[in-house]
Amino acid sequence: MIHTSQFWKVHFENNLMKQRIDWSKGPSISNVEKNKVLYSLKAWQLGETSDGKHLLAAANKYSGTTQDEVYPEAVELFIKEEQKHGNNLGRYIDLIGEKRAKQDWGDTLFRKIRYFNTSMEIWTIAVIIVESAAQIFYQALKEATDCNLLKSICNDILIDEAHHIKFQNERLYILFQKKRFYFKVISVLLYSAFFFFVIHAIWFGHKKALKAGNVTFKLFMEKMFGKFFKTMVFVYSGQKEQFVSNEQIRVSEQVYLRS
Ligand SMILES: [Fe+2]
Ligand SMILES: [Fe+2]
Repeated sequence: MIHTSQFWKVHFENNLMKQRIDWSKGPSISNVEKNKVLYSLKAWQLGETSDGKHLLAAANKYSGTTQDEVYPEAVELFIKEEQKHGNNLGRYIDLIGEKRAKQDWGDTLFRKIRYFNTSMEIWTIAVIIVESAAQIFYQALKEATDCNLLKSICNDILIDEAHHIKFQNERLYILFQKKRFYFKVISVLLYSAFFFFVIHAIWFGHKKALKAGNVTFKLFMEKMFGKFFKTMVFVYSGQKEQFVSNEQIRVSEQVYLRS
């Protein structure tokens, strides 16, 4: 199902009002846990605080070519939600007496790609890949600590990210459906190459924190490929992938044999 930009605008407006973190708890992260996750915590905090200027410019340019005038408003609210993640993680870093990162190689690389990119399609696939990795990272971060405050910050982000992926998948579907068959094939090949490069960069940058949350290289790759395949099935068909159960196969075999 594809939702309208108006639906997403209302969703983001309502979601931004929800306060799911209890800041009265205070942080309780141990030094051992901190040693494993701090670098990645700071790097993701920096990545979440982008002003979103270039994404918004791409959304405005794109909406000028379509009838979808509400889309940039939905994108603006989506950016606000990412900034909320950055603010919460930043507040946590301050509370544990650490300094926020001002620079990170992954963030610098992604900012450079963003700076030169005005294509809504490249933006959308890039955001989907990073959001998919974010889901695995914040789940791992939650597992890597006993600090209830950090766990609740991760929970809040995970709830938001699930919707972000739906929002971006739907946009990629809309963009993808306008292509002719061979351009669809070429696009999937290009998405795959980009995906392959980005997920390896994320693993090498954040493997210490991911491993602390019991995410091995194999598990990370399996989860990322699973998410990517789901996105590709969705953008191609507009439907979630459907797995046929053994029971369904058995019933359809009986129907076939009786006919
Ligand atoms: Fe986020
Ligand atoms: Fe997100």
